[in-house]
Amino acid sequence: MITELSLHERTLSLFRYPKRNNETLQAWDAGDEYLINHVEEMGLESNQHILIINDNFGALSCWFSEKHRITMMSDSYISHQGTQANLQRNHCPDVNMITTMDDVPSDVDLVLIQLPKSNRHLVWQLSQLRCALKDTVPVIAVNKAKEIHTSTLKLFEKHLGETKTSLAWKKHRLVFSSANSTTINQVSPNTQWSVDKENITLNNLPNVYSGESLDLGARFMLEHLPTNPGIKHVLDLGCGNGVLSIKMGQLNPDIKLTCIDESFMAVESARQNLISNLGSERDIECIANNCLDGMPATDVDMVMCNPPFHQQQAITDHIAWQMFCDAKQILSVGGQLLVIGNRHLGYDGKLSRLFGKSNVKVVAANKKFVILQATK
Ligand SMILES: C[S@@+](CC[C@H](N)C(=O)[O-])C[C@H]1O[C@@H](n2cnc3c(N)ncnc32)[C@H](O)[C@@H]1O
Repeated sequence: MITELSLHERTLSLFRYPKRNNETLQAWDAGDEYLINHVEEMGLESNQHILIINDNFGALSCWFSEKHRITMMSDSYISHQGTQANLQRNHCPDVNMITTMDDVPSDVDLVLIQLPKSNRHLVWQLSQLRCALKDTVPVIAVNKAKEIHTSTLKLFEKHLGETKTSLAWKKHRLVFSSANSTTINQVSPNTQWSVDKENITLNNLPNVYSGESLDLGARFMLEHLPTNPGIKHVLDLGCGNGVLSIKMGQLNPDIKLTCIDESFMAVESARQNLISNLGSERDIECIANNCLDGMPATDVDMVMCNPPFHQQQAITDHIAWQMFCDAKQILSVGGQLLVIGNRHLGYDGKLSRLFGKSNVKVVAANKKFVILQATK
């Protein structure tokens, strides 16, 4: 796996986050290279204020911080940590880091965007740029050519302004736009809906997982969460909008709930949703983290987990594995990890390896999903 990005007679050493010994995936892609080459050819004066949105592991922030003032904006805690680690590794100057819930700085000279996976998040980002930027500020986005559809360009035209694309290079394409649309479309960051057959209403900020409708796995899990007076503290690992915690809190009115997600918008949505559905008197904590990094073993009786199988664009099961290992660390003896997954993902094998085969049981299964309980 290559860790040296060499362009224009300069080399950066870049790793994904967290850094893993057996990593097979690179910390940057051809889209980052295309943007770097393009901006280098623009011949920018130095000390411009560049806003870099959705920088995955900081390749762009590291590159451009040498000569420019950088604001890195991302919803991902992992991207923040990865960028910070790569900046330090390469002795780069400091970069201002903000989330996509923060205001777009008003004095930006150039915007570079790695297009986000979710169109709702893209529309939110474009609408924020339209409100904050002068129409003279170039906005250059990048993605795999096959991911840039006519509908993507229409979103740019509608929410930002005039838009053109480049030729493809290494299967990537650039999108050139500026904040000059004749009308400003007001975009709300909130999407609200009620969960069928439950007394739960959820607000979803733009980048929350399954923010437009309930995840099918979560639906199945809701039907099998326990009422158990012995449980005092439940941790929701990869909480998304907090739906599992809300149900658990309704079934068990005295429990403490800790919600963890690597998306800042998920953490904020979960916080709002727990308060609006359970009341403001409950003992809750919502925290952005990579799995349970650095969290001390406390009195956790149960961890609930509907694990992700993507990290940015890459399909991977290392996060699920990390979540299971961290859950085992943090659980008190006798505590339970409750996991839902597609049947084909083989989580039973992973849990048996960690907890011992006799401590893993199937709580429920249907054609698509299986819910497993592992006891420490
Ligand atoms: C399949 S979704 C489940 C969301 C919610 N619990 C539900 O059941 O609808 C997985 C969640 O894990 C989060 N996630 C992904 N990688 C993570 C990591 N390394 N640490 C913490 N959360 C992570 C994602 O942002 C996403 O919200």
